[in-house]
Amino acid sequence: RRVVIEIPLVVHVLHNGEPIGTGANISDAQVLSQVTVMNEDFRRIMGTPGYNTHADGADVEVEFVMAQRTPDGCPTNGINRVNICQDGTNSAAIDSWKAQTIWDRDLYMNMWSSKYVGDMAGILGFAQFPGGSAATDGVSAGHTYFGSSDYDDGTFQLSPPYDKGRTMTHEVGHYLGLFHTFQGGCNGGDQVADTPAVDNPNFGCPTGHESCGTIDMIENYMDYTDDTCMNIFTNGQKARVQAVLAGVRSGLAS
Ligand code: ARG
Ligand code: ZN
Ligand code: CA
Repeated sequence: RRVVIEIPLVVHVLHNGEPIGTGANISDAQVLSQVTVMNEDFRRIMGTPGYNTHADGADVEVEFVMAQRTPDGCPTNGINRVNICQDGTNSAAIDSWKAQTIWDRDLYMNMWSSKYVGDMAGILGFAQFPGGSAATDGVSAGHTYFGSSDYDDGTFQLSPPYDKGRTMTHEVGHYLGLFHTFQGGCNGGDQVADTPAVDNPNFGCPTGHESCGTIDMIENYMDYTDDTCMNIFTNGQKARVQAVLAGVRSGLAS
């Protein structure tokens, strides 16, 4: 019998002393909205913004659950607020902030929200693939791309068209072993048979765009389209994710 895998999650909110719910110190509700979106998307839950009826669409059978214990065994809500005493993170700083705040990557999926500045300013988020450094493992996004405006209680700070939580759905896809649908161009480098090859990233929400002789699956979470446009992981992508959770990231699934 198949069992849905529950992945324990910690969200590190890196800030500069702002009151909770302002600036980089995003509200609990904004954090939790991101987790809701990931669960809607990975479980392909009917009636949600991520639901799709595509024949190749999959319930990935993975859920994300806020950690209830810290690595030391203390109760937690899974949100770790850290005042880094500086106004944001550039690419030189972010790996060191990750290393200073990470919880054991074999027991938790680590997520970071922080204000992206300097050479990070144009970036939505990034991920570490399976098999990388234990000191920096996890997924990171800018605080205005973390969460979904669909659940805004008036405290959210999000930047359309990347305001529906799909940056982290995409980054967690990488973290669990998925490549971009356009990886390798028309040679089909994503190593997934049921995603059509795509020559270049798609942006916005194009209709009927064709490359490599087939219609691009622009709705795939692993393309670069707008958040409202994305709604599918495929069965082939699910197989890759399940293999990672049975292999290099099996600690998360136990
Ligand atoms: N550019 C980023 C990456 O390659 C994320 C793109 C996310 N797209 C989105 N619609 N939120 O990892
Ligand atoms: Zn990507
Ligand atoms: Ca493919």
